[in-house]
Amino acid sequence: MLGSCFLKHLAGDQDFEMYAFDRKNLDISSFKDLEKVFKKISPDFVINCAAYTKVDDCEKHIDEAFKVNSRAAGVIAKVCNQENATLIHFSTDYVFDGENPNGYDENSEPNPINVYGHSKLGGERFIKAYTDDYYIIRTSWLFGKGSKNFVDTMLKLSKEKKSLDIVNDQIGSPTYTNDLVRNVIIYFLEPFLTEIEIHHERSINKETPELKNKLPFGTYHLSNSGQTSWADFAKKIFELSEKKVKVKPISSKEYKTAAKRPACSILNNTKVPDIMRSWEDGLAAYLKLHF
Ligand SMILES: NC(=O)c1ccc[n+]([C@@H]2O[C@H](COP(=O)([O-])OP(=O)(O)OC[C@H]3O[C@@H](n4cnc5c(N)ncnc54)[C@H](OP(=O)(O)O)[C@@H]3O)[C@@H](O)[C@H]2O)c1
Repeated sequence: MLGSCFLKHLAGDQDFEMYAFDRKNLDISSFKDLEKVFKKISPDFVINCAAYTKVDDCEKHIDEAFKVNSRAAGVIAKVCNQENATLIHFSTDYVFDGENPNGYDENSEPNPINVYGHSKLGGERFIKAYTDDYYIIRTSWLFGKGSKNFVDTMLKLSKEKKSLDIVNDQIGSPTYTNDLVRNVIIYFLEPFLTEIEIHHERSINKETPELKNKLPFGTYHLSNSGQTSWADFAKKIFELSEKKVKVKPISSKEYKTAAKRPACSILNNTKVPDIMRSWEDGLAAYLKLHF
């Protein structure tokens, strides 16, 4: 979902070469292949959107989860370091336990409560061990084109059901992939493009008013602003899409899943504040564009 959104925003640009891979042409858990590809291309910049994202399946497929989300992320960081490439890597609100009702800032102590969260935290730690030139961007509750997501699932169910039971005791920030990708390009990628002088006369996003300074390497939180529960998220989806579906709020105890979810995984963005619009505005834009 996120990878194809980057592709949409960056493809066709004439001022730099872009190489994009899916699992068919580069399995990131095949470390030899990763190294070969990096040596061949010698990239300046690497954006890693690949991950084992099926949160419940991770509980059963622990080795696979750690191979892709931890060790492969580490190998990517290692080869980035060898090739002097800057790495942008995506991580998750699920590295936190969700016990803090005020949410988490970039320096809060992670404490995952499921295998997916542990494996993503492992990836963060490997990256920090293998390279200094990294941006780890934690995000949450993604929706957008290209993969199964909560918004699409709700709209599909609205054709079949008049009433839905949805969990209301998990709080987070839904995030539109387009909003995330736009801001990553403007704030994280563009300053580097100017620096490596392949980009001095133009800007990827023609609406970008000015080029920004390079942000310090490290960990960032980027989600649409505001927060909600899955039940209220569903209500908003039906309200904006004018679907008549009743949402019955239920507790997580009534909706058993293989993996535990954090109760409150709000990501506070203290390092580049106020750049992401509200999740409601993001949702409205997504529905307008695609439904
Ligand atoms: N979705 C969310 O709500 C959410 C929330 C917070 C953070 N994130 C993070 O954001 C990033 C992007 O997530 P997303 O929602 O775009 O995930 P996605 O739609 O599931 O995409 C992940 C991609 O990684 C690929 N992949 C898995 N294993 C691979 C391997 N061994 N080699 C190569 N490719 C492999 C998958 O291919 P297949 O389809 O073939 O498996 C899929 O195309 C991930 O790092 C995720 O942890 C996501």
